[in-house]
Amino acid sequence: MGLTIKPLHPLFAASVIGVDLKRPPDAAMLAELQQAFDRHAVVVFPGQFIDNESQMAFSRLFGPLELMPLVPGKPPRLPHRELFDVSNLDENGRITPETDERRIYNLGNRLWHTDGSFRKIGARYSLLSAHIVPPSGADTEFADMRAAWDALPEAMKKRIDGRIAEHSIWTSRAKLGGYVPTSQELRARPPARHPLVRTHPGSKRKTLYIADHVSHIVGMPVEEGQALLRELIEFATRPEFVYAHRWMPGDIVLWDNRCTMHRATPFDDTGHPRDMRRTTALDVEEPGEWVEEPVVVAP
Ligand code: OGA
Ligand code: MN
Repeated sequence: MGLTIKPLHPLFAASVIGVDLKRPPDAAMLAELQQAFDRHAVVVFPGQFIDNESQMAFSRLFGPLELMPLVPGKPPRLPHRELFDVSNLDENGRITPETDERRIYNLGNRLWHTDGSFRKIGARYSLLSAHIVPPSGADTEFADMRAAWDALPEAMKKRIDGRIAEHSIWTSRAKLGGYVPTSQELRARPPARHPLVRTHPGSKRKTLYIADHVSHIVGMPVEEGQALLRELIEFATRPEFVYAHRWMPGDIVLWDNRCTMHRATPFDDTGHPRDMRRTTALDVEEPGEWVEEPVVVAP
């Protein structure tokens, strides 16, 4: 049909032109898009310049939207909790200072991760729109966990297939700087367990499901599990598995969290604004599966 799909990397990631995401796609277009998502896992839509409402409406086609946690005493900048503020701006549009909690929280995005793996119901598709982009740096890097699985030595495949990993937001927060959550925070965001190796529903390919959120591998000493995780993340993020997206204003990038990892890269974030907004469709089969989590007390 009308889409032009151009691969951006030998293994995954493609750019798609010929669709306006501000309009609801018809069934044929939706099927074509779904096919592109299943195959390429990271799909770039250049020049969309989407508004908040259209971004939410498009994301909702794929699942209920995750809600951004509230930070007490810090009013949100964006008008809907379905919009994750991935910017370095405060509620008045000013660049947040180095020590701002919101900035520290977003620094967690610099670790390799997949969105929402610390929840029982993780994220299916994240959609990130670029409103203001700094002059240099701040690429987002993506890695294909299906290609990484395919390339693993057989002995490693045998060692990890069938293993379960426990993921927690507090593990990745602690890696940043030793943050210790309160018992209230622990209750609000408990850990979740997922198989280390899964089958990606869209492509039917086996995939690693790993992230810096992993606290331990069930049935393994914590240290051994962490060493294994480190080895897997290093392997899976070798340059041949990574596509780095250089942002242009108006870009939208959609990624499939079930078979990729991603991370933010540094930029002069106290000198230049970066305004990015994320919507996240949760990975639910049945809408009734999803229960809104309680409001989080602190980031
Ligand atoms: C995210 C994320 C990376 C970036 O929004 O989930 O990890 O480059 N963003 O902002
Ligand atoms: Mn992320």
